[in-house]
Amino acid sequence: MKIAVYPGSFNPFHQGHLNVVRDALKVFDRVIIARGVNPDKMLPQDTEMEFMLGGTGNILFKLLKQRDKVHIVNFTGLLKDFIEQHDVSAIVKGLRNPTDLEYEKTQQYWNEDLGIKVPTFFVISGRAYTHISSSAIRAVKSMEKK
Ligand code: PNS
Repeated sequence: MKIAVYPGSFNPFHQGHLNVVRDALKVFDRVIIARGVNPDKMLPQDTEMEFMLGGTGNILFKLLKQRDKVHIVNFTGLLKDFIEQHDVSAIVKGLRNPTDLEYEKTQQYWNEDLGIKVPTFFVISGRAYTHISSSAIRAVKSMEKK
């Protein structure tokens, strides 16, 4: 069984993330969504993963979980250590724009320097999702009238 890890902050997990998972599942048997702590993003590790998928996105995600196609785990520390403890063949990440590419390149080089041996595959974001980001969702949510 080929398993990919999809690491990220996922604060919150949204349609763009789901699209990356769907593409990854065309190649891998299972995707582990590894929700890590990025100190810069101040993610409270003990909160439940929040889904902003809505409608069919939510139904699809639940179905993938039921079919054991998707696992969700929290991790702390280095991605390298997480990968060594799991039977993972590859890392999967999404790219929306050149800013993402530059960020991911730096992450990738650090991961290589830290000794990660598995390859990273990048999924170009579906065009319907290029404007969606967790930080924008958080900003809108914080300004919405209660
Ligand atoms: O893409 P994101 O959301 O910024 O990723 C967050 C996270 C936590 C997955 C990423 O920062 C990570 O892999 N952290 C673990 C620490 C690590 O291994 N760092 C090495 C690369 S700099």
